[in-house]
Amino acid sequence: TERTYIMIKPDGVQRGLVGKIIARFEERGFKIVALKMAHPTEDHLRKHYADLANKPFFPGLVKYMASGPVIAIVFEGLDAVKTGRAMLGATNPLASPIGSIRGDFALAVGRNICHGSDSVESANKEIDLWFPEGITSWKSVYEGWLYE
Ligand code: GTP
Ligand code: MG
Repeated sequence: TERTYIMIKPDGVQRGLVGKIIARFEERGFKIVALKMAHPTEDHLRKHYADLANKPFFPGLVKYMASGPVIAIVFEGLDAVKTGRAMLGATNPLASPIGSIRGDFALAVGRNICHGSDSVESANKEIDLWFPEGITSWKSVYEGWLYE
């Protein structure tokens, strides 16, 4: 099984969507193996979004992401990275299918309420960046009913 880093952004926290977003992943069958609230510094966010440093929207993105606490989560399960991205929807909420998190709860690309790792390699980097203390490992009693 695979792990992905999912983050509820400051607007998702402010809008009271934490429970709904986590519930979708739990209901799908993904297992929480790390979770915390954190108020990231701009410096930390510049590391998280280092690949986007040359984009015109980068300074605004860093300010938005540092504007309040976020919920940092690691979910584990089958094909977690790709499935997690599909559950979030497209980067632009208006292009996200109804039924996806951004398609149901957001409108603007610069306020798209959640983040998801875009590859297994990014997931590993992001998990190390956000959880340097390490993550947990536990066996769910549902596993025999989720997986054949
Ligand atoms: P993340 O899961 O947050 O990484 O989003 P993503 O992988 O769907 O998109 P990407 O990594 O390319 O961009 C990171 C974030 O930057 C997006 O989620 C948006 O919040 C923001 N962003 C991306 N493109 C634009 C843009 O054209 N304008 C603005 N204002 N923000 C953008
Ligand atoms: Mg991205």
